[in-house]
Amino acid sequence: MSKPLSAPVWPTLFAASASIGMGIQAQLIHTLRKALLAGRLPHGSRLPASRMLAKDLAISRSSVEAAYAQLEAEGYLHRRTGAGSFVAFTPQLRPSKKAASASAQLSQRGQGIVNAGGCRDSALPSMAFNAGQPDTRAFPHALWQKLMQQRWGKSGAALASYGPAQGLPELQSAIAGYLAQARGVDCQPEQILILNSSQQALQMIAQLLIDPADTVWLEDPGYLGARNAMLAAGAQIVPVPVDEEGFNTGISQTLAAPRLIYTTPSHQYPLGIAMSLPRRMALIAQAAAHQAWIIEDDYDSEFYYDQRPLPALQGLDQQGRVIYVGTFSKVLFPSLRLAYVVLPPALVPAFTTARIAFDGHSAQFLQAVTADFISQGHFAAHLRHMRLLYRSRRDLLLEKLQPISDITHPINTAAGLQFALQLPKGLEKPWTASGTTAGLALRPLSAFYQEEAKTEGWLMGYASLSNGQIIRACEALIKSYQEK
Ligand SMILES: Cc1ncc(COP(=O)(O)O)c(C=O)c1O
Repeated sequence: MSKPLSAPVWPTLFAASASIGMGIQAQLIHTLRKALLAGRLPHGSRLPASRMLAKDLAISRSSVEAAYAQLEAEGYLHRRTGAGSFVAFTPQLRPSKKAASASAQLSQRGQGIVNAGGCRDSALPSMAFNAGQPDTRAFPHALWQKLMQQRWGKSGAALASYGPAQGLPELQSAIAGYLAQARGVDCQPEQILILNSSQQALQMIAQLLIDPADTVWLEDPGYLGARNAMLAAGAQIVPVPVDEEGFNTGISQTLAAPRLIYTTPSHQYPLGIAMSLPRRMALIAQAAAHQAWIIEDDYDSEFYYDQRPLPALQGLDQQGRVIYVGTFSKVLFPSLRLAYVVLPPALVPAFTTARIAFDGHSAQFLQAVTADFISQGHFAAHLRHMRLLYRSRRDLLLEKLQPISDITHPINTAAGLQFALQLPKGLEKPWTASGTTAGLALRPLSAFYQEEAKTEGWLMGYASLSNGQIIRACEALIKSYQEK
């Protein structure tokens, strides 16, 4: 048997892991367990007598006794009356090896998710011309605060408990009402499943409806969040080009039969095209012929400035093949983490069960406040206000880009939080580099293509920028052209 571990080491060990909020005894157990797991206390070594350790650490002897007893019960120590307490544990792996092998132990599914990657911009939300950013300063914070207070006062206890997996019925009804009136969506509130984000919807749809090697048609260029979700499920992605009428159904009819089709018909991502009615009808017919599902990602349809958007594909579909996806990330604020899917009735039970299996449901309280915000008319008023604000920013950006209108060409500027700015071929790369050096967030359009990029340029976000920011950023952009 080895000697007791040298006394001076104990206060250091103990101090290093002293954690706020833990009692002395819990801290000691935690410290010892960590040292044992890390192999710092070799098998067979003797721990200090409880009296000595208590003295060294200036804590009570009973705390040390209790900690030793607990670690004996957990199998780390062996205690013999009259002889002392001994380490009875050998860690399986050295910590460094353990860390290395843990990262190599993902399932094939897990590795697929990691390989596909996430879809989050590293640029700051406030940077010009970061795309997809709503103006969170212009949100009616005082009103929201009042609604939160009222709600918690009225039904805080009920909202604090577990809630229905599909979402709060009040919110389902409020969304169904809004979608029928504003987007021509034809659904019952029970077809609506409340989620945390469109991204969660895409992941869930992919996990539930796609088998490895199933074909998925994706718009090209297209939304990387959708591509990643499909890749993570093992899908075989078939890019479908878009033209001035959107998703090219003339080409898609020649492609391998899909199990799933992803499209952004109101405002094609990233080019901003509105899909024509004949194309919408053709796509629905193709989905029906292949018995495929269509994901209609209706992001940004709320922000049409010069005309009303065409009604949603979902309302045109007589076959129940469209899964409509909407989000509150842009129309309220991104950190709210509330979105929804309108499911064909046949899919409701499976998706509800999956929601229970994955994480239960979205936060009840925020669902309730959002439902109040919609049903009391604030949502419609907020959208009206934001449309005017964003339209004025879009107009200012278009005006400030005028001096370089010979080399930049804004396309499909009628809607959204951003528009695509087309550049002549070959300019995107060098100008992105000089613009980035000048402190601009420029997202190249070529990054959204699976095949060779047909349109080069950037996605220009403007909605969250003040007038001053837009003016200064355009000056910087123009200057960076000379420096490219
Ligand atoms: C096409 C598209 N769909 C969905 C979303 C994201 O919504 P959420 O925050 O709900 O995942 C975005 C965000 O930029 C988007 O561009």
